[in-house]
Amino acid sequence: MITCDIRIARSFLDDSTYITSRTKADLGLQQLQTKTGPGSEWLGWRDLLASPNDAILEEISSLGEKVRSDADVFIVCGIGGSYLGAKAVIDALTPHFGNKGPEIIYTGHHMGGKYLKELVSYLKTPKADGSAKSIYLNVISKSGSTLETALSFRTLREVMEGLYGEAANDRIICTTSASGGILNELIEKKGYRKFIIPDDVGGRFSVLTPVGLIPIAVAGIDIKSLFYGAVAAYNKYEENSEDIVEYAALRNALHEQGKTIDVFASFEPELSSIGGWIQQLLGESEGKEGKGIFPAVASFSTDLHSLGQFIQQGKRSVMETFIIVEDSFCDLEVTEMEGNDDNLNYLAGKSFHEINTKAREGTTEAHQDGNVPIVNISMKSLNAENIGALIYFFELLTGVFVYSLGVNPFNQPGVEDYKKAMYRLLGKEA
Ligand code: PA5
Repeated sequence: MITCDIRIARSFLDDSTYITSRTKADLGLQQLQTKTGPGSEWLGWRDLLASPNDAILEEISSLGEKVRSDADVFIVCGIGGSYLGAKAVIDALTPHFGNKGPEIIYTGHHMGGKYLKELVSYLKTPKADGSAKSIYLNVISKSGSTLETALSFRTLREVMEGLYGEAANDRIICTTSASGGILNELIEKKGYRKFIIPDDVGGRFSVLTPVGLIPIAVAGIDIKSLFYGAVAAYNKYEENSEDIVEYAALRNALHEQGKTIDVFASFEPELSSIGGWIQQLLGESEGKEGKGIFPAVASFSTDLHSLGQFIQQGKRSVMETFIIVEDSFCDLEVTEMEGNDDNLNYLAGKSFHEINTKAREGTTEAHQDGNVPIVNISMKSLNAENIGALIYFFELLTGVFVYSLGVNPFNQPGVEDYKKAMYRLLGKEA
């Protein structure tokens, strides 16, 4: 389960500021639970945890096993909410090097031609034994028309048709809306296998639908534990949402106080993609109507050597949220070295977890002295269940906090502006 410790950050606020924000956060929770806030038609991410669909979990688990046993490469083709959640979970829960099962490659999340060209060439290059790579492709797009994703998909399905002929169609899995959009027309024409993104779940809230669950299952992660970890969190916060409301109130008060940047940082490199997912979830939800705290992502202690100076002594507009795993998940220790020629024997016998924990405590001490409000979000151990709980924690926090700002968390009108301008410049017909 997830614990949320706001004590350090709370000490930067006087009672009356906090109490005013607390009232707004209470109202935010109420709007969410009673479906009375703006955008309430997008609350399906809560409903799917209230009534879990075991049949779909089962279907996706078996698909994951089949693809795992057959594929050398699994391509996740999507952008924004259509891939960040899967990547976050996969990076958190699979080994950094030499993971068993297919290599997972992300595409469709930018227009970089060099990347795509190199990917095509990599896919076409036979394996060491001279045989063709076994490739599966999951295209994920709720609208079915996002240009970055559609262009990659067009390029890659041509590659797959070249490699496998008609049989390519059995290797392409589509995740999209129940109906509408050009992708649905292609599915109809080619007979691709289709999974549905529920209409009432927006992209950035969709990691626990087939959007995220298919790639996560292919990566060999137990999606039932992940999903039911989120269900447990849902049930817990339906009973008592105090942690969420306090955290939302705190963020609201810090927003009022002029904090404009929240650095989401973890000391575990495994969790840096979780930061990327939180960034999109909060960023697209809160950044509207001239409001919001810009969600930045950092990986510590790496980024203490790049952003640390700014956080410690730059413009005092920064708050931080640390994502913490309490228990060690790696037994590596520093060895005693004869001669001590690098002067590191004072650390001999200590685990890297202990050393990393001291790095975090030291950072907390320094940044607190530098007037940075810090929130600690912790899970006991790194496993699928806790990552599922963390996902729901941040989804709920996002809804409550953004409502507390008086903003609709579930639309993204600003994203359309770049698309309109880009399509006009590209000469797309209306
Ligand atoms: O959260 C969102 O709604 C967005 O980030 C979308 O996920 C993103 O724009 C991709 O859209 P689509 O799935 O329609 O291709």
